[in-house]
Amino acid sequence: MGPPNQERPMAAKDVMDKLVSLCKRRGFIYQSSEIYGGTGSVWDYGPLGIELKRNIKDRWWSAMVHQRDDIEGLDASILMHPRVWEASGHVEGFTDPLVECGTCHRRFRADMPEVAEGQCPVCGTKDTFSEARLFNLMFKTFMGPVEEAANQVYLRPETAQGSYVNFLNVQTAARQKVPFGIAQIGKAFRNEITPGNFIFRTREFEQMEMQFFVEPGTDEDWFEFWKAARMDWHVEMGIRKEKLRFLEHGPDELAHYAKTAFDIEYEYPFGWKEFEGIHNRTDFDLSRHQEYSKKRLEYIDTASGKRFVPYVIETAVGVDRTLLVVLCDAYHEEEVEGEQRVVLRLAPALAPLKVAVFPLVKKDGLPEIAQKLHADLRAAAIPSFYDAAGSIGRRYRRQDEAGTPWCVTVDGQTNEDGTVTVRDRDSLEQVRVPADGVLTWVRERL
Ligand code: GAP
Repeated sequence: MGPPNQERPMAAKDVMDKLVSLCKRRGFIYQSSEIYGGTGSVWDYGPLGIELKRNIKDRWWSAMVHQRDDIEGLDASILMHPRVWEASGHVEGFTDPLVECGTCHRRFRADMPEVAEGQCPVCGTKDTFSEARLFNLMFKTFMGPVEEAANQVYLRPETAQGSYVNFLNVQTAARQKVPFGIAQIGKAFRNEITPGNFIFRTREFEQMEMQFFVEPGTDEDWFEFWKAARMDWHVEMGIRKEKLRFLEHGPDELAHYAKTAFDIEYEYPFGWKEFEGIHNRTDFDLSRHQEYSKKRLEYIDTASGKRFVPYVIETAVGVDRTLLVVLCDAYHEEEVEGEQRVVLRLAPALAPLKVAVFPLVKKDGLPEIAQKLHADLRAAAIPSFYDAAGSIGRRYRRQDEAGTPWCVTVDGQTNEDGTVTVRDRDSLEQVRVPADGVLTWVRERL
């Protein structure tokens, strides 16, 4: 066992600044178009960020689609027929009340606490706000070469509608019976008035949404099932239980489509806020699409002959938001033997790199052995990083910040008995493992 790690208390406000700078330093996340001064609230994922993101999406897809008989995958397009958004209620109802400061002319959500008290959050002037106007959050663009109202389309603000309009396509092709679900992972866009807190609320983001179609009357039981299943998924991903809780939406907070809605909230460094939403959308969406498209979206139960428009239980979580929760939860500062270290305690299955391989010194044939070990791991599709630069301590610290669970060091003893040292990121425990057994050792722990 290594020495005990002393967790250092951190000021909540500092944690976000530190996380943003770690994400840039280690290649997780960069501000979009940074060399031009950045674009408001859109972010780019670097080499480690994209791996973490893919691992999160793979885990969700595996739990939702691969491990279940009753959920099918779908990848609907971002641009849809504009009538979709009239039917869904987004043209009319996907709005935020917005006010403009009479002095600095910046616009804010009317429900921000300072704004509600009449003070401009930017210039501080009091009581110069305009009347609140409803502002639609959907991005608009034009389909085809003519920029006129008839050709206006929207960038989807949620993936869900793609699942509703394809409900019968999927049900018949996959020969599913209600209850069954449709899962999607894809980009969504919202012209948020107050984006912020790094990747918490952005204007371009990815969602992992699942629409579960059920017989009316069974919806409340299925709602409870999915509430529990989604909470379990987060805990199984390694998120601390005490940092997660449910929050029920009050009657005046419900989205226009929802009969019941619960958020799974996480305690971010900036407070308890939404992580995932679980919604009972009733037959609202399918009925509206029936009405607007004039196409039947009924399910016919062949055994009983019953016909009905299914109710939908939806689970909806952001990929980027999950990544933020995973990073916030994994970020730790500790003192080890009098030295400070920053460590991302990512679950091994999520970690972008699983192993780093170091030669202790650049002589005695150690780099060649280490490079071969690294190449063997890569050939077996285990993301591995070879590093021979700097002191061994510095190399460990770099990997701690990247969240790499295991560092393998090839040293003098390797030439004598063929073993290497494997150091555990969290316990700092070091064990000797035969070099040719490292691949199996790692696989058993993923
Ligand atoms: N289809 C239902 C729906 O979209 P939502 O609560 O508006 O419901 C679902 O969004 C999830 O998508 C949220 O819980 C959050 O994880 C993520 N999300 C929503 N808006 C976001 C934004 N502007 N930036 C990042 N993630 C967002």
